[in-house]
Amino acid sequence: MDYILYEQKNNYAIITINREKALNALNSQVLEELDATLDAVDLDVVRCLIITGAGEKSFVAGADIGEMSNLTKAEGEAFGKKGNDVFRKIETFPIPVIAAVNGFALGGGCELAMSCDIRICSDNAVFGQPEVGLGITPGFGGTQRLARIVGVGRAKQIIFTAKNVKVEDAYRIGLVNAVYTKEELMIKAEKIASGIAKNAPIAVRNCKKAINEGLDASMDEALVIEEKLFGDCFETADQKYGMEFFLDKNKDKVKEPFKNC
Ligand code: CAA
Repeated sequence: MDYILYEQKNNYAIITINREKALNALNSQVLEELDATLDAVDLDVVRCLIITGAGEKSFVAGADIGEMSNLTKAEGEAFGKKGNDVFRKIETFPIPVIAAVNGFALGGGCELAMSCDIRICSDNAVFGQPEVGLGITPGFGGTQRLARIVGVGRAKQIIFTAKNVKVEDAYRIGLVNAVYTKEELMIKAEKIASGIAKNAPIAVRNCKKAINEGLDASMDEALVIEEKLFGDCFETADQKYGMEFFLDKNKDKVKEPFKNC
């Protein structure tokens, strides 16, 4: 891999977009390598992923403008599909994915963060969808996910004006869950990841699925989705162990790690 670093730490892993010279801009190769990296994650062991960018300045400064500059309509559509396919893979990835946004998250960078389940950032982060200033629309899910995350009115204003969103505003409108110093960001991201990894893996996966699939359904359908995924947890070793541990009043007993994946 030229542009992706992958580090597995116990039962969580860190993916770093590593194209620092271009502020981690996403060209086709970066997208292909990201896709292949996701396919290779050992889901028997890894229970949470963190995605971040290499260097001090940028998470991802967008799709590669040089690569896009001469595309035909058909090639533009295919490039959009390439990004959308990878980002949808992240959104529907069986385990939670945390975006640790360590700087510019513009265009495709903001869209990458939005495809993750949890977004936290450093205080130098800058969000935005500058595409209309380049003569295009957001193309890796921005027109869809931003409205779902911050609401239609705010999303339209951000996209139509192409103005950057400062970190305080990103936090205020719920585009990020928390803001940390640069030094703290990865420590916090890893703390969240290891905290998630301590919980029962089947239950965590089923929660992600229930929330994602429920959002695309009516409330009645969504509750049936929840009931099925709730039921699916029963008879697993983790459900038996988790409940037996609670019901056992022996205060000296130490909780064992959950095992099922
Ligand atoms: N594509 C290609 N190269 C990029 C890039 C991008 N999106 N963003 C930055 N780079 C490159 C620059 O061309 C520059 O390369 P050289 O050193 O070879 O000249 C290098 O990264 C460093 O960038 P700057 O010198 O511009 O750094 P800066 O600190 O002065 O500015 C910035 C930082 C404000 C992020 C600025 O680089 C910038 O505005 N980048 C473009 C942001 C953008 O418009 N993103 C949206 C792209 S469109 C998109 O993403 C469509 C979609 O939805 C799929």
